[in-house]
Amino acid sequence: MDKLSKPAGAALRVLVLGGGGFIGRHAVGALLAQGMTVEVGSRHPSRLARRLPAEAHACGRRAVHFEHLLTPEAWLPSLQDVDVVVNCVGILRQRGRETYQRVHHLAPAALAEACRRSGQRLVHVSALGLQAPMRSGFLRSKADGELALRRSGANCCIVRPSLLDAERGGYGAAWIRRVARWPVHALPADAAGLIAALDVRDLGEALAGLARRPRLDHGGRPCEFELGGGQAMSLRDYLAALRSLHSRRPALPVQVPGWLARLASHACDLLHVTPFSFGHWELLRRDNLPLHNDLPALLGRAPRPVAGIAPAQGMLAPGLPAPGVQPQRA
Ligand SMILES: NC(=O)c1ccc[n+]([C@@H]2O[C@H](COP(=O)([O-])OP(=O)(O)OC[C@H]3O[C@@H](n4cnc5c(N)ncnc54)[C@H](OP(=O)(O)O)[C@@H]3O)[C@@H](O)[C@H]2O)c1
Repeated sequence: MDKLSKPAGAALRVLVLGGGGFIGRHAVGALLAQGMTVEVGSRHPSRLARRLPAEAHACGRRAVHFEHLLTPEAWLPSLQDVDVVVNCVGILRQRGRETYQRVHHLAPAALAEACRRSGQRLVHVSALGLQAPMRSGFLRSKADGELALRRSGANCCIVRPSLLDAERGGYGAAWIRRVARWPVHALPADAAGLIAALDVRDLGEALAGLARRPRLDHGGRPCEFELGGGQAMSLRDYLAALRSLHSRRPALPVQVPGWLARLASHACDLLHVTPFSFGHWELLRRDNLPLHNDLPALLGRAPRPVAGIAPAQGMLAPGLPAPGVQPQRA
């Protein structure tokens, strides 16, 4: 079956795995807006209605449990009548059989092989910052997943977004916005890295644009896209910018010793509370910026402002402003 030779005019059928999640539902909305037919993959298809945008209520739904989809053969029934798969599945914490390795590595590896055999294209959402040495099992499993895709020979690409922001929704995004409102900002002393948060709607649009491309690989290797918003800034400046949306009074920044922040990250992992994890503590310690920001090129425009901060001048050209460039208000 060759999915590249679809009759002209026929709508592409796209399966969005994790389509009820933060990234997934924005991908679903953007795919529908661009005229594609969408199937939503979820562990609980019957509970999707309240998580999906209204325009997606009529979409087909498929039950997918990554922890059980560990061979290409297991994937084949889920891929029937599908041209493109967009994988937006991820877990922050392990539960029972849903381990980091199964969800981020082994299932996507089997999926890529199934796509290679049956001709689907695959857009895989990963994350920035996986190249540096890391100890977190969460990050290592995502890096392993990327490696498996690189070796798969499938017509696929890897998309690595920076931290995501949205006015509403998203476990991590909503938590950061809530914390930013507090009058005191507790900042790990070693959170020295810069981030380039982007609007989740821009990511959805970029994923939909990629789904339309007939080729996602280059000479048998997945194309890799690193995406960020228009400004590079420290966590401290990012929280200050988010707070300034609600209050004129700046928060009091308080430094938390690195060891204490690390201990807190382990406690959060153990108790399954807050989106702060050991992996995030590791990520915060170094820059978490795209090497080359592909977002403007994928969108054909500047990224949306995040936290009221407009992209720096020149952002339509790929790349990010040099660290230390003053944020500009939209
Ligand atoms: N949010 C960010 O700032 C950000 C930034 C960069 C990268 N990322 C990465 O992007 C991915 C998605 O992030 P997100 O913020 O959209 O997370 P999310 O809102 O938690 O969505 C993840 C989705 O994965 C699905 N899922 C979880 N376990 C599954 C399993 N065992 N089998 C099948 N589906 C499963 C869930 O679908 P159901 O509940 O419907 O089954 C859920 O909708 C993650 O890998 C994350 O690391 C996120």
